[in-house]
Parts: sequence; C-alpha cells; structure tokens
Amino acid sequence: MASQSLFSGDLLSPAVSEALPQGYKIRSLRRTDYDTGFLDCLRVLTTVGEISEQQWLDQYDWFTKRDGSYYILVVEDDKSKVVGCGTLVVERKFIHNLGVVGHIEDIAVAKDQQGKKLGLRIIQALDYIAAKVGCYKSILDCSDANEGFYVKCGFRRAGLEMAHYY
Ligand code: ACO
Repeated sequence: MASQSLFSGDLLSPAVSEALPQGYKIRSLRRTDYDTGFLDCLRVLTTVGEISEQQWLDQYDWFTKRDGSYYILVVEDDKSKVVGCGTLVVERKFIHNLGVVGHIEDIAVAKDQQGKKLGLRIIQALDYIAAKVGCYKSILDCSDANEGFYVKCGFRRAGLEMAHYY
C-alpha cells in the first residue's frame, strides 16, 4: 500500500502550527490531495497543466520512493481546503563534509488567502524541516518582485541564478 503522507508529522513545527489562524493546519502532502486545492495553489505560481488522477498518483508514488529527499508541505484552511503549499528538496553532497543543502521550491498561497502570513509560516515550517534533517543552509530562486517577501522570511540575496532550458 502506497504511503498516505509524504513525510512524518514529527517534522512539523509546533510553533508554526500554533501561529496559524484559528482552524488552519500545516501537514504533509497526502496521496488523497488530488482535488483538495493543492494543484490550484500551484496554479497561482505557474502553469500546471491538466493532470489526470492516475498521473497524480504515479507522481506521488514516485516521490514516496525518494524517502528523505522531497518534503511537500501544505496549509489547510478551517474547511480542510488546501490554501498554501511549499516544497523542500534535500540534496546530499560530498563537499563540506558530506554536506546537506535544502532547496526551497514552489511556494504558493491561494490569491484570496494572501497577506495572512501563510507564506511566512510555510517558509518557517520548511526551515524547521531543513534544520531537523541536517541541512546546513537552504537556498531558493525567486523573482525581484518576491525578494521583499523572502527578506521578511530571513533570507538574503546570495549569488545569481542562471538557467539552460531544454
Ligand atoms: N514583496 C515584499 N513583501 C512581501 C511580498 C512581496 N512580493 N509578499 C509578501 N510580503 C510581505 C508581507 O507584507 C508580510 O510583511 P509584514 O510581516 O511586514 O506584514 C511578509 O512579507 C509575510 O507575508 P505573507 O502574508 O506571509 O505572504 P503571503 O502569504 O501572501 O505569501 C507569496 C507570499 C508566497 C509570495 C504569495 O504572494 C504567493 O503565493 N504569490 C504567488 C506565487 C509566488 O510568486 N510564489 C513564490 C515563488 S518563488 C519560490 O517558490 C521559491
């Protein structure tokens, strides 16, 4: 039987849970999240495309086999609808004494839920996981328009993103 939660509840920050609006929850992505609002949150960020339920399950099951590498977190509102999400990808290295680096990806909050500190709480929750699983830093790419948000979350500009598209 495939796992119903991508990661253990032990990795969820109690302080973040406490700080959320009344009735809201943070939790791991679940196999049953196909139509709970997660994909619509991602549509606030970028194109998602039309993913069938079978494609969703196949992709979810692929993530579960990469135990310790992908932490996809969601925020649920008081009606159990997913209204925010974020991902931590954990990369193991040989450098820095077998260092472990966190990559923060795909942060999104539903349009009508923005401005309630949910984005900040998602970042804090991912930071908590990163520290718990042994990352020595977390890094991310963002647009100039989002720099102020990440500065408020404690990040600072470091380096320059470059890309090759295939
Ligand atoms: N520029 C400057 N400051 C900002 C911005 C911004 N774009 N967005 C939020 N802030 C500030 C808020 O005013 C708040 O400041 P305060 O503490 O002084 O009140 C603080 O940052 C925290 O804001 P939140 O309420 O937590 O932000 P929100 O829940 O609205 O989430 C987010 C912010 C995730 C950027 C949201 O607007 C969103 O989903 N945008 C569309 C998708 C997107 O661009 N995601 C980021 C992609 S980059 C990546 O994924 C690595």
